[in-house]
Amino acid sequence: MLSVGSFVAGVIQEGDSMKALVLAGGEGTRLRPITHTSAKQLVPVANKPILFYGLEAIASAGIEEVGIVVGETEAEIREAVGDGSAWGIRPHFIRQERPLGLAHAVLVARDFLRDDPFVMYLGDNILKEGIVDLVREFESNRPNAQILLAKVPEPQRFGVAEVDDAGRVVRLIEKPKVPPSDLALVGVYMFDSTVHEAVASIEPSWRNELEITDAIQWMIDRGLDVRSHLISGWWKDTGKLEDLLEANRFVLEALEPSIEGKVDDLSSIVGRVVIPKSAVVKNSVIRGPAIIGENTTIEDSFIGPFTSIYYNCTVRSSTIEHSVVMENVTIVSIDRIEDSLIGKEAVVSRDLNLKPAALRLMVGDHSQVKLP
Ligand code: TTP
Repeated sequence: MLSVGSFVAGVIQEGDSMKALVLAGGEGTRLRPITHTSAKQLVPVANKPILFYGLEAIASAGIEEVGIVVGETEAEIREAVGDGSAWGIRPHFIRQERPLGLAHAVLVARDFLRDDPFVMYLGDNILKEGIVDLVREFESNRPNAQILLAKVPEPQRFGVAEVDDAGRVVRLIEKPKVPPSDLALVGVYMFDSTVHEAVASIEPSWRNELEITDAIQWMIDRGLDVRSHLISGWWKDTGKLEDLLEANRFVLEALEPSIEGKVDDLSSIVGRVVIPKSAVVKNSVIRGPAIIGENTTIEDSFIGPFTSIYYNCTVRSSTIEHSVVMENVTIVSIDRIEDSLIGKEAVVSRDLNLKPAALRLMVGDHSQVKLP
């Protein structure tokens, strides 16, 4: 196992090993109805569960001991992560009875974390540049906390930081009406053991959550060393639909093309496209960047750019663009679907027996259906 000292001096120090805490609980209200039945961290982006991007980043940074905070979707997250051997990590599942905030997640992970420094990673975030350099920077500077910041066009939607010339954080404000900067807090944080006193000292916010921003502000107010790192690559919090689709777009843009499936002569594949061996494409156009899942069939259709279709799906006589389609979905005779997230096992089809302009729907609670 790597230790804090191992990057710097190649010396492993007892009791000082870097851990990770991945937050994979929460309510996911902004992604309902998908989150009524499943964990939002397991929604696929470019046909890979969002959570796995974080686990890969953590493993690449040489961290093996990974606490995963889980809520009601514990069973599903446990099953997806398994014994962690896919990444060479050791997962420890930590149950949070209710989603009482990011700082509350640190509180419930106290026994796992002990006094070791750790990276806290929000399980629905994707960070292009990974965390290797960030962990190294934290380990060599050894501040009490290191937060990541990204320049964003709408800072009022995020936690925003005010930073002095030396990069030290002076103030954090949650969703400010008048933002003091355009620097939003990214969902990856690094802490030493002083954070435990902070999370135990703060009070719940107006929304009755223990806020990690309040814990960090508590650290700043006591003169602890809270530093920031401005990230250069893209970062996405996939907690709501538009951002999830954008993350899908970003990941697909860097896709390594590979066509192994059965593509007939009537079909054409343009640009960055992945079609695995078990997929079938008949009389269709697939314009990348796009990815098709295992055992999925595309027939008489157009699959447009920035589309991910997961495994065991059937798409027939339809057009889909800029969308994420989850597993076991059937889409038949739909002229055009765009900017959409289609949940597992959904069937979206045209019924020729219906009166013109009539719709027949069985749509789950909190679903959104938009018609022209
Ligand atoms: P959020 O997206 O801030 O919260 P949420 O999941 O409750 O979503 P919504 O606002 O749509 O209701 O959470 C960020 C990440 O942290 C996400 O992966 C869920 C996780 N989380 C926990 O594990 N425990 C918690 O108490 C909270 C609030 C979030």
